[in-house]
Amino acid sequence: MKIKLSFSLIYILIFFFGFSSCKNQTAIDKKVEKLLYQLTLEEKINMLHASGTFTSGGVPRLGIPELRMSDGPCGIRMEINRNDWKLCNWKNDEVTYFPSQTALASTWDTSLAKKFGTALGQESKIRGKHIQLAPGINIIRTPLNGRNWEYLSEDPYLVSKMVVPIIQGIQYNGIAACVKHFALNNQETQRGFIDVDVNEQALREIYLPGFEAAVKEAEVLTIMGAYNRFHSQYATYNEYLIQDILKGEWGFKGAVISDWGACHSTLEAALCGLDIEMGNARTPFNQFYMANPLLNEVKKGKVDIKYINDKIRRILYVMLRLNVINEPKFDTSGMYKRLAIPERIALTRQIAEESIVLLKNQNNFLPLDASTIKSIAIIGDNATKKHAGGGGSTVVKPRFEITPLEALQNKFKGKVQINYARGYEVPQNSWNIDSSMNSINEKLIMEAVEVAKKSEYVLIFGGLNHNWGNDSEGADKHSMKLPYGQDKLISEIIKVNPKTAVIIICGSPVEIGGWFEKTPALLQSSYLGMEAGNAYSEVIFGDVNPSGKLSFTFPKKLKDSPAHAIGEYPGEKGKVIYKEGLFVGYRYFDSKNIEPMFPFGYGLSYTSFKYDKLAVPSELKLNDAEIPVSFEIKNTGKIDGKETAQLYIHNEKNNSGRPYKGLKGFEKASIKTGESKKVIIKIDKKAFQIYDTLKCKWVVEPGKYEILIGSSSKDIRLKGSIKLL
Ligand code: BGC
Repeated sequence: MKIKLSFSLIYILIFFFGFSSCKNQTAIDKKVEKLLYQLTLEEKINMLHASGTFTSGGVPRLGIPELRMSDGPCGIRMEINRNDWKLCNWKNDEVTYFPSQTALASTWDTSLAKKFGTALGQESKIRGKHIQLAPGINIIRTPLNGRNWEYLSEDPYLVSKMVVPIIQGIQYNGIAACVKHFALNNQETQRGFIDVDVNEQALREIYLPGFEAAVKEAEVLTIMGAYNRFHSQYATYNEYLIQDILKGEWGFKGAVISDWGACHSTLEAALCGLDIEMGNARTPFNQFYMANPLLNEVKKGKVDIKYINDKIRRILYVMLRLNVINEPKFDTSGMYKRLAIPERIALTRQIAEESIVLLKNQNNFLPLDASTIKSIAIIGDNATKKHAGGGGSTVVKPRFEITPLEALQNKFKGKVQINYARGYEVPQNSWNIDSSMNSINEKLIMEAVEVAKKSEYVLIFGGLNHNWGNDSEGADKHSMKLPYGQDKLISEIIKVNPKTAVIIICGSPVEIGGWFEKTPALLQSSYLGMEAGNAYSEVIFGDVNPSGKLSFTFPKKLKDSPAHAIGEYPGEKGKVIYKEGLFVGYRYFDSKNIEPMFPFGYGLSYTSFKYDKLAVPSELKLNDAEIPVSFEIKNTGKIDGKETAQLYIHNEKNNSGRPYKGLKGFEKASIKTGESKKVIIKIDKKAFQIYDTLKCKWVVEPGKYEILIGSSSKDIRLKGSIKLL
């Protein structure tokens, strides 16, 4: 009787929830059809292209709004004129400035990713947007890509795990996320036309999983097509990528938006899957490829109306999911007060703190003891640089941005003598990348050396910035070396004051110079948002124990990086071949036994962790659901800390032609000093899948696999094995 009852209860629940979501779906579909039926051809075409720099056309008579969009992943971009790129100069559009995406990824914390997405979505809503043009998830293939800092990682698993909560967070607010740039936009050099050639296996296993998770797990509502081509056809309307994979195989129901100016054809775009053409207002909007020219093609019978209707259905689907049909007029009153509220600012600080990576800490040089220090030299342009205003489309007007120097001045309030020296000069933003990056100002070096001599400790804040040719959109770096003579500066400083910690700010790997051996401590972070300075200060002085881990490999030199060693970069005659295939990032360094400077997943702590007691089920049947892999981590140091344990899988039998191992799970655990924590990472058969290009599907090979638990991709602490039946 009891069993019967609970069965019927479950049945009722399934029926109710299943039916209600189904019913909801049908309700949306019905509304879509009703609206579609009422639209004229001209009105439909009007919805398929930009009506302003950041809007696409609406149909006021039916309550169909213009879709209002905004960049980007670091916060809601300042308001831009409707028909050009000039700033509106509003007084009330200052927002929360979040750490960049490589920073978020180096927290390895999916709950922070969710909070970040939620906060970004809230501000997007407050700023009256419908679509937030974020997150960016292209794979970090080469250290030189100018936009690496806007992406998450070199590893598709880490990307997939972080992108889902970001999107869920954004969309929870009734804002559509727009995951970008689909796909293979892995360099800025010739991004507008470069033709990418990559084999199917690498496409499926490395470059697409993040997008697949965005569609299938997070139900992202919009996707931005990339500027580049893939197998000769533009990615934004690439039949294979968009029609076959995205909309076909993955069942994407939302709308594909072009990157700005990425559409170059009417017929191809209309027939191969582009839904909304966005772009620069250099041409009147009704002259866009998907405006009057498309109307003419439909009238001539060259484009069947079913293609237009499919696009409209997708756009209406997005609008109905956002519930914006007949929405009230957007009201900006009270906006200023609701943006950049303390909770969101605190979140930026938490992300920043958790993302800073401790790369070296000889003899526990850090944290410094604030109570005993008398004088400290702060050196480097990045000690005073505000990063929010640069980088390209991911530009933000923050409510404030605290630099490292300001944070330290606020902390010590004159009680410790702070001696600042710029150390290196960043020339005016210049198109001449080589001359600006290679410039050295000897006078500034000498001044900094003098400042370092007379100070007890030195903190050098160096690295990159968002100037052209650094971490910035539109161009790639020309070198992986630190610009503006920083290697020389750091070496000279350490000579006169060995108590020097170096803090490198960069959203991509950089070459760490010969000074590394001589500095006792090295920290790295990406751009950390409005509370950046405070986050560094907290880590340096031990209020926060660092727990960030690299989301990309630091090669020793550029030539060691797979895209440069065996692949192609930037390609020839407009074509780039990803000859390295699956061997991207640590997959290459591992398999070819090349020692990186710092491996993927690496990051130290002020405490230490011991891994123990690995328990791996001996067998997994192909149809088994998730199985737990468990182990213990003990905090063996003197302070509380956080550790991200990483689970990699290595196929013992058939590894020829494939990377040695791949990340398939991770868990960030907060562990008190002396405490042991049991960590459980669940894996299922997906973790063992590889893409079979002959069968054109994912397959799992039975056999023995090694389960590797590491503190980084190179520091494997525990090993077990499992048999796949
Ligand atoms: C970028 C996109 C951005 C768009 C709008 C393009 O240049 O590639 O990421 O969303 O501009 O600003």
